[in-house]
Amino acid sequence: MILYSRNRRLRMSPALRSLVQETVLTTNDFAMPMFIMEGKNTQEPIASMPGIYRRTLDLAVQECKELYSLGIKAVNLYVKVPENLKDNTGKESWNSNGLMQSAIKAIKDAVPEMVIMPDVALDPYSMYGHDGIITNGKIDNDATNEALVKMSLSHAEAGADVLAPSDMMDGRVAAIRSGLEENGFTDVGILSYAAKYASSFYGPFRSALDSAPKENNDIPKDKKTYQMDFHNSREAMDEVMKDIEEGADIIMIKPGMPYLDIVSKVREAIDLPIAVFNVSGEYAMLKVAAQNGWLDNDKAIIESLTCIKRAGADMIFTYAAKEAAMLLNQ
Ligand code: PBG
Repeated sequence: MILYSRNRRLRMSPALRSLVQETVLTTNDFAMPMFIMEGKNTQEPIASMPGIYRRTLDLAVQECKELYSLGIKAVNLYVKVPENLKDNTGKESWNSNGLMQSAIKAIKDAVPEMVIMPDVALDPYSMYGHDGIITNGKIDNDATNEALVKMSLSHAEAGADVLAPSDMMDGRVAAIRSGLEENGFTDVGILSYAAKYASSFYGPFRSALDSAPKENNDIPKDKKTYQMDFHNSREAMDEVMKDIEEGADIIMIKPGMPYLDIVSKVREAIDLPIAVFNVSGEYAMLKVAAQNGWLDNDKAIIESLTCIKRAGADMIFTYAAKEAAMLLNQ
């Protein structure tokens, strides 16, 4: 039989396949999320995230050196806040001597080339486990924005390169951008979580920071009045366009794997860099399957991250960044 077109021709050898490969995953694509806690010389494993730890700052700094030597250029920082420092306003979040501010300074000092991206959101600091200040039982959008500006300025002051607001309040990118411009932080970037969905895939992260919304009938029981409804796609585009107008430099879509249709659609529409968050629940699913021998850990990691890039991501926030970097460097 004569077949003029045979797609298999270009798959016949590793060399041929490499010539026609469209997407190449590299360590330049990764940002590593890190959990930092108070104390010294201690690390605690996070049960639902095998291989991931909460570390005291001294160990986190060492880890950053190691990550940078593996080729990872960015870290996304989260802090575990002791219960006695939590309140409704989240004021510990703009304490210039707070754990996040100390972490930014210490990492900048030890690994100056590392791009430092602190999380900007109140939930780890909130006694209610919400990303918003609560007034009369409701999330107070505009009061929250004022707090986020103070938090952002304290991160910029400490030396952060790119702020990563993950709260989903309306208008916060504009508020943070004005705050930065007015205070001379003209070179500090904003990576905005533009399309962040209310997702069950954040479960392991919330247990790592003890930051889940608290059981309390006087406050909203979930984050659905600010994070997006997973049934929606057009709304994501609207969120993205507004954050670009408000002054975002990088657009985040989150979660990752179940939301790659959104990534690809946003990629078609915008020219700004896109970040995708391969979230804690995605990581946990892969790890638990791999631990049971049901998935090949290394192959599944490289495949899932490559597919996120193929969908349109310029950078991927992933707990598998270190492992993936070691695999790519082999
Ligand atoms: C909160 C925040 C969350 C994550 C990053 N920042 C959780 C949430 O919105 O409840 C999730 C990250 C993950 O699951 O890996 N501002």
